[in-house]
Amino acid sequence: MGSLEDVNDLRGWLELAGEMGEVTTITGAHWDREIGAASEVNYKRASPPALLFDDIVGYRSGLRVLTASMANARRLGMTLRLGTDLDDRGLVEALRTRPGEWVEAAGKFPMNVVDSGPVVEHVVAGGEVDLLAFPVPKWHEGDGGRYVGTGCAVFTTDPVSGVVNAGAYRMQVQNGGRAVSVNMEAGKHGAGHVREWFAREGRAPVTASLGHDPLLLVVAGTEVPAGVSELEYAGAVLGRPVDVLLGEVTGLPVPAFGEIAVEGWLYPDRRELEGPFGEWTGYYSGGSEPVLTMEVERVYHRSDPVLLGAPPGKPPHDYSYMRSVMKSAMIQDALVGCGLRGVEGVWAHEVGGGRQLLAVSIRQGYAGHARQAGYLASQLPSAAYMNKFVIVVDADVDPRSLNDVMWAVCTRTDPAEDIETMRQTWGSRVDPLRAAGLPPFNTRAVIDACRPWSRLADFPKVAEASRELTDHVIRRWPDALGGTR
Ligand SMILES: Cc1cc2nc3c(=O)[nH]c(=O)nc-3n(C[C@H](O)[C@H](O)[C@H](O)COP(=O)(O)O)c2cc1C
Repeated sequence: MGSLEDVNDLRGWLELAGEMGEVTTITGAHWDREIGAASEVNYKRASPPALLFDDIVGYRSGLRVLTASMANARRLGMTLRLGTDLDDRGLVEALRTRPGEWVEAAGKFPMNVVDSGPVVEHVVAGGEVDLLAFPVPKWHEGDGGRYVGTGCAVFTTDPVSGVVNAGAYRMQVQNGGRAVSVNMEAGKHGAGHVREWFAREGRAPVTASLGHDPLLLVVAGTEVPAGVSELEYAGAVLGRPVDVLLGEVTGLPVPAFGEIAVEGWLYPDRRELEGPFGEWTGYYSGGSEPVLTMEVERVYHRSDPVLLGAPPGKPPHDYSYMRSVMKSAMIQDALVGCGLRGVEGVWAHEVGGGRQLLAVSIRQGYAGHARQAGYLASQLPSAAYMNKFVIVVDADVDPRSLNDVMWAVCTRTDPAEDIETMRQTWGSRVDPLRAAGLPPFNTRAVIDACRPWSRLADFPKVAEASRELTDHVIRRWPDALGGTR
């Protein structure tokens, strides 16, 4: 079997994942809803394989689409270069403290500018551009169009510092394949860059990679701190710099080993109706609005490129597992990093798309500790966007178990006393509760599901067999009781 160190691009990733038995190929699917629906069925399975669609109706063999790239622990662990045989628990263990270390190390891995690379095997310019030459799916039945960018990395720069940002912002094909809209929510780093460019130059340069080593999707699609270039962060994960070419038109980076990339300029008044789109909340909740759109000046692509799909929807969806694992680790790191004591674990649950429902377990050390943990977690930069519920539990409750977390809420939370709400917090345009036309604020709650501090000494004991007794009976009747634990 190949080794993790040799994986340098999506081709190498597919080869290794294939050797691990983690890739299933589907032929003959239609780009119009079939790829999306087949992917959706797959996400709902336990430990779904990655799906590679080939021989897509209306397109020649070799033009492929990949989904569910990181929908289980083995492939996410492999993508993060942590191991090829990790299970859920092993992955969480292996990842602990890594996000903070990668942030610290990022500066040592500046992007490596090269003159050539596979992504420029084919260069398509100006009037020749046609994004629909690729099998771009219409992912969900209610989508307003075909989305070429879901598992994408959109590159922007800070016009003053030059720091490069990568964000995953969905991209809908517009103008018959000549243009693409880029949906950056206000508050995202890329949106800030674009506003700065508009103010200074009247237009903003953008490149976007649409197929690549899924590691680039992890870094683009999760909340790497402001000012840290995601390309450098990816370099820290890899232990070597990421090779990039500079776009012919804008000079912005394009991953040299990518599959497909586009380049162009955004202008403040160039917008097209975008959406609706099946969102990560599980609804077509963003509606259809005018969104910044770029005429594509260049398309760069390899021969037989693979588009990296990552369509959201009602969870579990394409990247809900990846987001849960990554955000849980990032938020735990950030809580510890800001000095909070007694943090035992954090889990960003998939049912809330990895954003809306956080469970934080703490070893209570002082009066007020639980509320402090809840308020802090709810407003951390890595957690604040579209959070709705933070549930703080004691250390005896596994934050990853929705059953145990809700049991703690049912038994340790007094609804009249232990639910704190916050208003006018950082919500989203895609919140199904947002009334049309109003700014995307939301409200959120911290639910204190810890044993009350003043009753710690006399709170009733949990009615559950002790560890010793449990181990004893399992050892006695291993077959009847499902073996060792
Ligand atoms: C597959 C995928 C699609 C996403 N689509 C969008 C989107 O359309 N708009 C958006 O603002 N954020 C979207 N996100 C979330 C952002 O990528 C995420 O918040 C990221 O941290 C943004 O980067 P930034 O903070 O550097 O701007 C998506 C994430 C993933 C993984």
